[in-house]
Amino acid sequence: MSHSENLYKPMLMEIQKVIPETPDVRTFELVFKDSADRDAFRFRAGQFAEYSAFGLGESTFCIASSPTRMDHIECCFRKTGRVTSELFRLNEGDTIGLRGPYGNSFPIEDCFGKNLYFVAGGIALPPLRTLIWNCLDWRDKFGEITIVYGARTVSDLVYKRELDEWQKRSDIKLVKTVDPGGQTPDWDGSVGFVPTVLKEVGPSPSNSVAFVCGPPIMIKFTFPVLTQAGFEPNQIYTTLENRMKCGLGKCGRCNVGGVYVCKDGPVFSYEQLMKLPAEY
Ligand SMILES: Cc1cc2nc3c(=O)[nH]c(=O)nc-3n(C[C@H](O)[C@H](O)[C@H](O)COP(=O)(O)OP(=O)(O)OC[C@H]3O[C@@H](n4cnc5c(N)ncnc54)[C@H](O)[C@@H]3O)c2cc1C
Ligand code: FES
Repeated sequence: MSHSENLYKPMLMEIQKVIPETPDVRTFELVFKDSADRDAFRFRAGQFAEYSAFGLGESTFCIASSPTRMDHIECCFRKTGRVTSELFRLNEGDTIGLRGPYGNSFPIEDCFGKNLYFVAGGIALPPLRTLIWNCLDWRDKFGEITIVYGARTVSDLVYKRELDEWQKRSDIKLVKTVDPGGQTPDWDGSVGFVPTVLKEVGPSPSNSVAFVCGPPIMIKFTFPVLTQAGFEPNQIYTTLENRMKCGLGKCGRCNVGGVYVCKDGPVFSYEQLMKLPAEY
């Protein structure tokens, strides 16, 4: 039975490369085992997929690579429970399943000509990293690009090699930070919580859009920094990570009020979130 006949049948993906990011976070570079699946696969920045460890179940991760770079698909995940622990155990050459892509995406075309702020915390850089690379590959379509990324400690930062690359580029501004006490003697970034460091950066709302992903506590304190700087709620976007099962709008696992996060999201503007019940 093909994927189009059975929506729950995963495509087979070979783990081409495993990149350790932190002690409990890994990146997988994945390639399609079936060339027909590869040729048919299209996605947009912000979409997610269901990744399966055979015999155990599925986990929801964003697609962390950019749609402008289709030679492989990447996910970056933290070992938290059953499925992610099994995925964490796998090696290069092993096979996992992938269903997707699902959900909506970041409104990248609406951002042409605008200044972009990317604000991320901890393991929540991957959903923005897909968009960051998409925008960098289309660099001349955007104004200034500012990235503020922080983690609790230096060892909790993901994509360290790319942070170094972004820091060297003259066409983007990267501010990396760790929480007070999380720095090492050779740390060359800022020390402070992401919202505080963002405030010091002084984000300008003029012709700008901000994309914010992070733990709930970071989001809670970052939105006010942006609104107090003059950003309207429709200039701020984030992604929600409500627990999911089907990813297809069928099981009702992910809904908040009348909204299915898997179908209507996971990308929402702050303006949309303000209309949702507080439980999101
Ligand atoms: C749209 C979306 C995108 C996501 N992208 C990523 C990603 O790129 N990288 C990544 O590491 N994780 C991501 N997540 C979270 C990820 O899906 C869960 O951490 C993972 O499924 C846990 O699976 P498990 O079987 O190992 O854990 P389980 O054994 O099911 O649970 C372990 C613990 O984690 C908690 N947990 C499980 N899922 C979630 C969740 N969605 N939110 C909060 N707590 C949860 C459980 O309550 C439990 O305490 C995303 C989630 C969504 C909905
Ligand atoms: S995950 Fe099943 S309806 Fe959203």
